[in-house]
Amino acid sequence: MLVLGIESSCDETSIAIVRDGRQILSVKTYSQIAEHAPFQGVVPEIASRSHLEKINFIYESAMEESGVQPGDLSGIAVANRPGLPGSLLMGAQFARCLSLVYDLPIAPVDHVEAHFYAPCLEGFEMEYPLIGLLLSGGNSAVFEIQDLEDLRILADTHDDALGEAYDKCASMLGLGFPGGPALEALAARCDSSVPLLLPPLLREMPEPRFSFSGIKTAVQKAIRAGADPTTLAYSFQERTVELVLRVLVRCVESSGCQKIVAGGGVLANANLRGRLDELANKAGWTIVYPQSRALCTDNAAMVAALGTRLLSGRKRAGLDFPVSSSRST
Ligand code: KG4
Repeated sequence: MLVLGIESSCDETSIAIVRDGRQILSVKTYSQIAEHAPFQGVVPEIASRSHLEKINFIYESAMEESGVQPGDLSGIAVANRPGLPGSLLMGAQFARCLSLVYDLPIAPVDHVEAHFYAPCLEGFEMEYPLIGLLLSGGNSAVFEIQDLEDLRILADTHDDALGEAYDKCASMLGLGFPGGPALEALAARCDSSVPLLLPPLLREMPEPRFSFSGIKTAVQKAIRAGADPTTLAYSFQERTVELVLRVLVRCVESSGCQKIVAGGGVLANANLRGRLDELANKAGWTIVYPQSRALCTDNAAMVAALGTRLLSGRKRAGLDFPVSSSRST
């Protein structure tokens, strides 16, 4: 099966052509970072206009690189939830046009679930049940994945996503936008024996959950008090990783499933990857996440991988499929 994937849920316009849900023939991604950087965050109106301007060019360059003709395609997979409504609509409308012109079936895809399919593009076999850990700019959550399209939320964030907290704190530290990689690089320069400048997050946790908004205020106060930026970046990273690990342990214990798949932009962070590996080794769990950092962040190849499963199970939609900012449609 040759499936064309479309991802436009936030600020990346991405198109991929994937064979049999496993082999990437081409993936082209335009990142709008430079357009949003002056605002230190994603501006929804700018995002949707930019998708509209770029998507045709991205499609043509992905098709050219793959060597595939539209008539060779088996179907289209498009992320239709969750995300910024205007951005999702651009990808959805593009999928509808291609479907009409080339008579191709469409599989609308849950962007969150697609992140858990990214490791399949590196040889991982998706065998349920699994625990899914998603840490990105828009989502921070843990799921029990029972089957295709059968995800139950075990832990969510009550406020910010971890990537958002990285970006806001990096911005306060003058590291630019999006600041995740820059904050990681600054933290790596810190001597790990220093006392942490920030208190632990969510000391009391009756239910497993994330909360990353309080640490932004703590970082702001520490900057005003003249804290050393390198130690502050290191403290931010340590305190947030601690919470991620604590929540994950709670979720694994409550579900009994010890196979974890992780994804989302923050999984590009080497310190987080290392700490998750360490925990999994110690506890005897299996953990998998994309080795390629480009497959951690938003991309259309993961959308095509999940879409291939849906299309091969004859799960296809009419042209009037919904687009939704939340996971439920
Ligand atoms: O999954 P993703 O591409 O899309 C959104 O949900 O927007 O994630 C982007 C997020 C941004 O917040 C970015 O700062 C964060 O992932 N990120 C990182 C790193 N690389 C990207 N956070 C921490 N460390 C990194 N190395």
